[in-house]
Amino acid sequence: MPPEMFHTRLLDNLTTAILLVDAGMRVIYLNPAAEGLLELSSARIVGEEIERVLQEDSDTAASLQRVLETGVGFTKRQATLHLGVGKEMTVDYVVTPVTLESEALIIEIQPLDRLMRISREEAILSAQHLSQLLVRSLAHEIKNPLGGLRGAAQLLARELASEQLTDYTNVIIEEADRLRNLVDRLLSAPRRITREPVNIHEVLERVRHLVEAESDGGLLIHRDYDPSIPEIIGDREQLIQAVLNISRNARQALGALPAGVTPEIRFRTRTQRQFTIGNQRHRLACQIDITDNGPGVPPELLDTLFVPMISGRADGTGLGLTIAQSIVNQHHGLIECKSRPGMTVFSMLIPLEKSDD
Ligand SMILES: Nc1ncnc2c1ncn2[C@@H]1O[C@H](COP(=O)(O)OP(=O)(O)OP(=O)(O)O)[C@@H](O)[C@H]1O
Ligand SMILES: [Mg+2]
Repeated sequence: MPPEMFHTRLLDNLTTAILLVDAGMRVIYLNPAAEGLLELSSARIVGEEIERVLQEDSDTAASLQRVLETGVGFTKRQATLHLGVGKEMTVDYVVTPVTLESEALIIEIQPLDRLMRISREEAILSAQHLSQLLVRSLAHEIKNPLGGLRGAAQLLARELASEQLTDYTNVIIEEADRLRNLVDRLLSAPRRITREPVNIHEVLERVRHLVEAESDGGLLIHRDYDPSIPEIIGDREQLIQAVLNISRNARQALGALPAGVTPEIRFRTRTQRQFTIGNQRHRLACQIDITDNGPGVPPELLDTLFVPMISGRADGTGLGLTIAQSIVNQHHGLIECKSRPGMTVFSMLIPLEKSDD
């Protein structure tokens, strides 16, 4: 391999974001990790003034200029970068002077938010796994005696002379059936998924029609799709189920809006580069955001949203999100939630190609 290619490969695969700035304070190079971090393509950043790319509260250009003049680099910890529309990111960055064809500066950026996020994601994944194991073994244990109870109630009903008394055995039978349905749902959650190319926008459109029909036209779902997203390899029906569970929750939450507020759900798709889910790194992932302007997830539920049987609704079974999360997990992805009154976002992240093992 020629040395230039070797170095390009190396830079392309680093998780640290690297920017190169010339003496005129313009960006001359950035690696894919930097593109992913700043959410801007190389074509848009190269040639830009560094101050427009790294927007901070302090004077970045002046500190960089000093490095050029003195030849002494610096490390800045916990700097806040502003990334377009109201988004902020906390990073550490290191500036080092180099002489290439002329004087230049290397800027290495380590996002702190992303690191915090990865450890939180790992916690979600392991909590999810543990609770699923627990619930599944419990469900098995409930199923057997339940069959016995129901059978005995049926036998008893046959022996009973008065119809009034069979009302009681009917209650036992009906309640046993209801419990059995619940247990079946708990046990059926992690079915094996099929793997074929799935167009995520077809999935979203199916759910959109379903949810709009369920609300009798009282709710319109806005769409903001990135048409360039490649197909996901996965299970179409299961993905529909996952998106439907999240969207139904949003529709239910919007039922309680005060008068004068228009209920809104928004489907948004984007690609994410160099994304780490759990401890696996993926080059390209698809992000699906389902946003509603409802009252928000009750704060006491936020940490346990994906745990089975946790519900904030009187008639909820608390399984919708557990099932959605387990479907997305089987696609090697993850669902996470950010919520405040007026804006709740459920984000599904699904890798678009085989992970770097
Ligand atoms: N978009 C949302 N806005 C506000 N609260 C939400 C939203 N999505 C979920 N929740 C809260 O999270 C809880 C759990 O949701 P989940 O879908 O797992 O169960 P459920 O909707 O209660 O029951 P079901 O099994 O019928 O779906 C809900 O009961 C609700 O309180
Ligand atoms: Mg639900």
